[in-house]
Amino acid sequence: MEIFPVTEKKTRVEDESELVFGTLFTDRMFVMDYEAGRGWHSPRIVPYGPFSLDPACSVLHYAQEIFEGLKVFRRPDGSLATFRPRDNFERFNRSAARMCMPELNVDFVLDAFKELVRLEADWVPHSFGTSLYVRPTMIAVDPYLGVRPSNKYLFYIILSPVGPYYKNGFSPVKILISDEYVRSAPGGTGEAKTGGNYAASLKASMEATELGYDQVLWLDAVERKYIEEVGSMNICFLYDGKVVTSPLKGTILDGITRRSILTLVREMGLQVEERALSVDEILEGVASGRLKEAFGTGTAAVVSPVGQFTYRDRTVTIGDGNMGELTGKLYETLTGIQYGKIADPHGWVEMI
Ligand code: COI
Repeated sequence: MEIFPVTEKKTRVEDESELVFGTLFTDRMFVMDYEAGRGWHSPRIVPYGPFSLDPACSVLHYAQEIFEGLKVFRRPDGSLATFRPRDNFERFNRSAARMCMPELNVDFVLDAFKELVRLEADWVPHSFGTSLYVRPTMIAVDPYLGVRPSNKYLFYIILSPVGPYYKNGFSPVKILISDEYVRSAPGGTGEAKTGGNYAASLKASMEATELGYDQVLWLDAVERKYIEEVGSMNICFLYDGKVVTSPLKGTILDGITRRSILTLVREMGLQVEERALSVDEILEGVASGRLKEAFGTGTAAVVSPVGQFTYRDRTVTIGDGNMGELTGKLYETLTGIQYGKIADPHGWVEMI
């Protein structure tokens, strides 16, 4: 792999408490090209910077694009740890298959990712709660206006030092349950991490933000009755003492944080139910006290407590509106494993 020199270094944020999610990028990026008949070629680490794209290229017209999100954590001894990176690249390949894009050699890109992070190690922030967010992306770059899978692709990895995803840190979020818009339908691309799913979510998110909510909770597209997921995270409920979350049926993201949390929940001796949970059950559960906690899970969002849900003209507050006990314990356990404060019995962490 060729490594190109960086001539101009970027300015860093001195005060890590000022890191805003996804706004600052490091000095270098990994890039690789694909052409039908030739396969992936020319892997290289180059200075971070703009690409030159033909205005006709497919991604700009038909959104043939996929991405991933994973993190690198700096531990108190200075070492760098990453969390379940193979799972991210394997999910990337599943997204690629759904979007008719070429798969990657997972071992090769894992090595490339680690090499890039080693070169950019100084960019990994030091404080607990901060990390280096890693964004692998693939775009279709054939300059062709017909609708068909592209013959050429660009794969790249960029790195961004980040603080909490939500502007209020880890304080409980206010969520609007939408029955007007839907995010994905059976047979669609809901399970793939593809830009179009997020573009389609913007109108509902924008309207929710204007009304003072942090995120939108999506219902199933058929009955508009069952909980699916939240804009940037999967969602779990502590209901009747069990952790209930939507099943993976192709319409929601198979979250790696979701998987990890469900494992931790079972190890804490609680039962997990992956089943359709209706809005009515949420409203009834809050009223009767059967629903005690709600939290989102995601790489960017980590474990994020939900304080309030609003559905049509009804707003319900979960518990006393603050982070619940289980949510706090899961947050501490997951981040404890990631930052090396507690043991990693599952082998989820890979040191860089
Ligand atoms: C992540 O959690 O890594 C995501 O990709 C969510 C993102 C849309 C911010």
